[in-house]
Amino acid sequence: MAEGFIPLCVPEIRGNEWKYVKQCLDTNWVSSLGSFVGQFEQKLALYVGTRYGVAVVNGTAALHIALLVAGVGPEDEVLVPTLSFIAPANAIRYVGAWPVFIDAEPEYWQMDPQKVADFLRKECRWAGKKLYNKKTGRPIKAILPVHILGHPVDIDPILDVAQKYDLPVIEDATESLGAKYKNRRVGHLGDVACFSFNGNKIITTGGGGMIVTDNEAWARKAKYLTTQAKDDPLEFVHGEVGYNYRLTNIQAAMGVAQMEKLDEYIATKRRIASTYAEAVKDVPGIAPMREAEWASSTFWMYTVLVNQEQYGLDSRALLRKLEQAKIQTRPLWQPMHLSPAHRGAYSTDCSLAVGLNQAALSLPCSVGLEPQEHQRIIENINSLCRSALHVRRQKIS
Ligand SMILES: Cc1ncc(COP(=O)(O)O)c(C=O)c1O
Repeated sequence: MAEGFIPLCVPEIRGNEWKYVKQCLDTNWVSSLGSFVGQFEQKLALYVGTRYGVAVVNGTAALHIALLVAGVGPEDEVLVPTLSFIAPANAIRYVGAWPVFIDAEPEYWQMDPQKVADFLRKECRWAGKKLYNKKTGRPIKAILPVHILGHPVDIDPILDVAQKYDLPVIEDATESLGAKYKNRRVGHLGDVACFSFNGNKIITTGGGGMIVTDNEAWARKAKYLTTQAKDDPLEFVHGEVGYNYRLTNIQAAMGVAQMEKLDEYIATKRRIASTYAEAVKDVPGIAPMREAEWASSTFWMYTVLVNQEQYGLDSRALLRKLEQAKIQTRPLWQPMHLSPAHRGAYSTDCSLAVGLNQAALSLPCSVGLEPQEHQRIIENINSLCRSALHVRRQKIS
């Protein structure tokens, strides 16, 4: 990495990773059979509180399989927040279904439960035993809330409507491992949940994912589908079109080591967040990321909202200025109802997410962020505001 460069969010590898990976190499158990896969599945499921965990190759594959086991199929519709990384909407398309985009709420930027309820009540109708989107004529099959940035969705009202309309809830918890909603861990709130261990996540296996559930039949089906749907491994008989979505033992070995550090990493992320919050509270036009009183956030990706009028620069101009100071930042994702990749999908009014997208900027928050690096970022945010406001005052006078 270039001298003095502060990256956005990089892995932290300082536990038993070398030791466990070496065990795989020394014993020749490098592929998807091997004891670390089972250990990783058990450890993560135990942590989240579910009965089963199925390790997979990445979080997107986890979502794909979770949708299949939840019974989502071609021409169905699934409610998903517009303000999220694109993977859940893509996974919905992989099974031939369509996303229905729901706006974010303004406080914590998560899927708005009121707008989920409004859509189901006002924009859908029953025909026989199925609920249909009045506009598209397609059946509603599931709700897929995404706990973005380390903070949980206010999920109880979503679980209530899901029960009312008999819809499974698939949690995308990929960004929020370890976060709690009313003292329950995300991943154990809906019917099935997905995690990611991509390089930027709070723990990483280089690339990897996990499906967790209490539903034994779904867990068995998930294992089956992710391992090529083999009915007879000796004679190579396959009962369905399956997938090779297995995690390798080497990756799982890394996952086991990373799990040993998870609580420590969450504590560090929370410390980074409170330092930022304290530091920006007197900077005009910078709104820190918030935590609901019913939540315990991991602050996985520390993000602020930039008010151009008050700060003097908009979020993208601040991004460019910080880049010049060798500080990497990143906007949030293009809201998916605007994505060319999902032009054909149905969307409710998602104007709040558009505003959040324009204002949001994620700041460096690696677990290994050094105090002096943190200070440098904060000083830059402060001084860029002062000089932007100074320039503006000079222009006016
Ligand atoms: C919200 C969300 N869902 C799904 C994924 C997909 O996970 P993966 O990259 O492991 O496929 C990611 C990010 O990587 C994500 O941020």
